[in-house]
Amino acid sequence: MCCMKGTFPTEKFRGTKTPFYYYDTDLLRRTLETIKTEMDKQPDCHLHYAVKANANPKVLRIISQAGFGADCVSGGEMKAALAAGFPAEKIVYAGVGKSDWEIELGLERGIAYFNVESSAELEVIQEIACRMNTTARISLRINPNVGAHTHAHITTGLSENKFGISMDEMHQVIEMAQSLTNIEFVGLHFHIGSQILDMNDFVALCNRVNELQTQLERQHIVVKNINVGGGLGIDYQHPNEMPIPNFADYFRTYRKHLSLRPGQQLHFELGRAVVGQCGTLVTKVLYVKQTSLKLFAIVDAGMTDLIRPALYQAYHHIENLTSEEPLQKYDVVGPICESSDVFAKAYEMNACRRGDLIAIRSAGAYGEIMASQYNCRELPVGYTTEDLA
Ligand code: LLP
Repeated sequence: MCCMKGTFPTEKFRGTKTPFYYYDTDLLRRTLETIKTEMDKQPDCHLHYAVKANANPKVLRIISQAGFGADCVSGGEMKAALAAGFPAEKIVYAGVGKSDWEIELGLERGIAYFNVESSAELEVIQEIACRMNTTARISLRINPNVGAHTHAHITTGLSENKFGISMDEMHQVIEMAQSLTNIEFVGLHFHIGSQILDMNDFVALCNRVNELQTQLERQHIVVKNINVGGGLGIDYQHPNEMPIPNFADYFRTYRKHLSLRPGQQLHFELGRAVVGQCGTLVTKVLYVKQTSLKLFAIVDAGMTDLIRPALYQAYHHIENLTSEEPLQKYDVVGPICESSDVFAKAYEMNACRRGDLIAIRSAGAYGEIMASQYNCRELPVGYTTEDLA
């Protein structure tokens, strides 16, 4: 089986404090190239990378240097994106609860547009823009009531979710936006969920957007931008075989099913698919513990470093980087005082000894950025291939 053992620079990391994140920047660059190639098959397509997936400054810089924009969900993310070199005019800002200072920051810097999630928010943006004597460009985030076949915690496009403006309310909010003096209405925004691998979910979104556009046209409304959010999943089971997600299929789906109006721009907000596979959480085996029931590999990374398994029962491929011993089954667990601090149960890997380096793969998205200091732990450090050069 193809694995990371051959490629991970184990020697270079000898003595490095664990746990840490390791980002394969060659893979990141190849992924960005693939996205460009596939996206360029259609004119007027733009990607705003979803900063929430990974805001490591080195990762952000590579993405900004590749010419992409940024999708932010907080003032902190806007600051991180600006610091990494994303031009303000390529930054979009979404979120159900924008604070006044965050709106002010977006206006001050002149970001591309705000994705507005309620009429109450629209009023506040109008007020602040008026006070600042400027115009706010806004898109309306519409909740398309389209389900995605993914984990319940990461679907966002259903009526029951807190996100966006309902389709019933859409016309009224558009009228409102058009009547406000300091608001320029530039587009519609959608996002149905994350880790989506079934292209039919995106087809369902396209169909919904097509319906809404037809309705709007009857009122002579044609928006400048259609933003379809992100959501493309990655292959957590096979990070070695599928290091670059199937962007060809993803962009083809939109080309085929979304009817854009002449001159209309199509915006994407992919996060996970851009950075997921290039990141690995590297941890060390502290103890091997045999109980009457099972064998535990106790590692020095915990749910504080990578919370996805504990929070979403997410699967991450795990490899022992420093052992060629026969395979054995382990519960791979961390040191945190919570029973949910488990990376995998009954997981087969090369037999472990204290000090072995373990790779927890596909951790580039929603890994380092979701780390916490629970149990007064230090946040993990992120290294890239270039740090080793
Ligand atoms: N746009 C919006 C409005 C979003 O809410 C999200 C993700 C994205 C774009 C990027 O989605 P992506 O392309 O990464 O699927 N922590 C969870 C994922 C939460 C996703 C939140 N929103 C996880 O670890 O699986």
